[in-house]
Amino acid sequence: MRILSGIQPSGSLHLGNFFGMMKKMIDYQEQEDLFCFIANYHAMTSLSDGKALAQGTLEAAANFLALGLDPEKSTFWVQSDVPEVQELTWILSNFTPMGLLERCHSYKDKVAQGIKPNHGLFAYPVLMAADILLFQSDRVPVGKDQKQHLEVARDIAIKYNNEYGDVFTVPEPEIDEDVATVPGLDGRKMSKSYGNTIDLFLGEKALRKQVMRIVTDPTPVEEPKDPDSCNIFQIYRLFLDRQGVEDLRQRYLTPGLRYGDVKQELFETTRDFFAPYTEKRNELLADPQGLRKILEQGAEKARHAASKTLRKVRKKGGLSY
Ligand code: ADP
Ligand code: TRP
Repeated sequence: MRILSGIQPSGSLHLGNFFGMMKKMIDYQEQEDLFCFIANYHAMTSLSDGKALAQGTLEAAANFLALGLDPEKSTFWVQSDVPEVQELTWILSNFTPMGLLERCHSYKDKVAQGIKPNHGLFAYPVLMAADILLFQSDRVPVGKDQKQHLEVARDIAIKYNNEYGDVFTVPEPEIDEDVATVPGLDGRKMSKSYGNTIDLFLGEKALRKQVMRIVTDPTPVEEPKDPDSCNIFQIYRLFLDRQGVEDLRQRYLTPGLRYGDVKQELFETTRDFFAPYTEKRNELLADPQGLRKILEQGAEKARHAASKTLRKVRKKGGLSY
């Protein structure tokens, strides 16, 4: 089965990205035909600093590779190294009703926040559909926030197939309800844009500072506490197995638990969990040429798969004559 997902290279990496998407993707490479890419075209909708985008792209590649993505077992590339996706985007635009895009929450939210929308932001879901359909992806693991974008991709695929026959695989979203939304320091969705993240590769001091900022309720130490409404618990549980979660729950229900102690534990757990990956990441970033080489080879594999779909689509639409 072909599994595909992408991650934007903008900014640093947080626990929401890791548990919501990257970990799952990396695990897939053992069993499935994994396609994973860095969505740098998408990042342009929120980042115009070219230098920062280029550096972010290399960092995103180092992140994935350090966390265990194996370019031999998977297809791993940078979106803009496979320009076929832009041609497909244009073709799919002609099968995308305006209303479908106008209904997209992430677009509407950004407009509501006062961002002046441009065509890139509006057409973002069409590019995402092209990412998915170009590679005939069966399943797409994403966080809950991307669910609607997947529905758009499915709608476009179905509309196109209705006209031309079964050209595209209609992709299935995969949203793991358990980690569907990793909460941030303040209980809202962990997100770069809310500034409520716990970052993976931050360095010890800054990491501790972030963890200590987790918002807690004012329940006194001597009273039992509610784990389910506690932001520390909801984040800490991601690192624990079933028994670990149960043990932590019991500690919450027993009077005497100090939030400060649990924060300290969560800080140490996060630091220790990511320490070996941090080292690997630094090694990779110290050799950007080596990184580029890996990405180049990945793009070659991806282009091979892309050209098969594009050949069909060009033929159907009368672009090859
Ligand atoms: P951000 O909201 O910080 O800008 P991105 O939009 O770059 O994060 O997300 C990259 C990937 O990580 C997406 O697949 C997204 O669904 C997933 N993701 C991001 N934040 C979370 C979260 N808090 N919980 C679960 N998954 C998340
Ligand atoms: N829009 C996704 C995000 O911000 C990233 C992305 C781009 C993507 N293209 C994709 C995810 C295709 C899955 C499949 O998280």
